[in-house]
Amino acid sequence: MSKGDTSLILGSAGQIGTDLVSTLRELNGGSKVIAADVKEQTGFLSESGPFLKLDVLDATAVADAITKNNVKEVYLLAALLSATAEQKMKAAWRLNMDSLFILLDIAKEKKDLKIFWPSSIAVFGPSTPRVHTPQFCVKDPSTVYGISKLAGEHWGEYYFNKFGVDIRSIRYPGLISYKALPGGGTTDYAVDIYHQALDKGSYTCFLKEDTALPMMYMPDAIRATLELMDAPAHEVKIRSSYNLGGISFTPEEIAAEIKKHIPEFSINYAPDFRQDIADSWPKSIDDSRAQEDWGWKCKYDLSSTSIDMLKHLKEARHMV
Ligand code: SER
Repeated sequence: MSKGDTSLILGSAGQIGTDLVSTLRELNGGSKVIAADVKEQTGFLSESGPFLKLDVLDATAVADAITKNNVKEVYLLAALLSATAEQKMKAAWRLNMDSLFILLDIAKEKKDLKIFWPSSIAVFGPSTPRVHTPQFCVKDPSTVYGISKLAGEHWGEYYFNKFGVDIRSIRYPGLISYKALPGGGTTDYAVDIYHQALDKGSYTCFLKEDTALPMMYMPDAIRATLELMDAPAHEVKIRSSYNLGGISFTPEEIAAEIKKHIPEFSINYAPDFRQDIADSWPKSIDDSRAQEDWGWKCKYDLSSTSIDMLKHLKEARHMV
């Protein structure tokens, strides 16, 4: 973003928001990054810069926050993820879609507003090629979450084509981070496993041992997000959402990696309804369009992710 511009992060207390706010405040200064969440926050979100208690479904409140603070960039991160959305279908559809419409309509009027909206590997489905999934291919999502993300991608592209709204989006793979826990996703096991390995020395996985899914370490995901937002508009050729690859691994493989650091660690498997969701998603992603259009390059592999995760989680537990 340009120096002096203000960003607004909606849903800032979630897994991505926590990391995004801290990175943006380090880069641009706390006062230029407004964190907003439906829940009141204590701690760094409200102490290292401005914080707003804000419901993303309150169109007037969102518009006011943007106008009064002369916001130039909005990151809309509030959403219900795949597993929760299956249990709360209508609430998920309403939150995931209405919040996007509210923002798209505001951006339609304010021509200088840039929007980031996260999509997901959940837009793909059983008929999608599952290995090295291409940018453009069959998308037949079988989850409420995936249906909402695919519809949102099309609406973003429509508002770009029809009204010139500068929307940018990434299909995030499963995200691994130590600052905040994910909640309600199918890829959450890849975060829980590190916590349980340190706390209990064992983990019961809700997916089968050979379930490969695309994943990414949060520092890479945040860097991708900021690189996409900073790219000149003409380089952002895809306005639905960009594939983003990262790493691909199975529960068995991540467990083996953790065992290198915690030899006594053990894993067992008790697959639940999330297995069906995982089985409908890609195993790995082709992100060559992100590489070509705005120079994307992933840095962290499973080994460096595991080393960094365990280091930070041990520090937080005063184990080092
Ligand atoms: N991580 C998300 C989920 O599991 C996918 O985008 O729901």
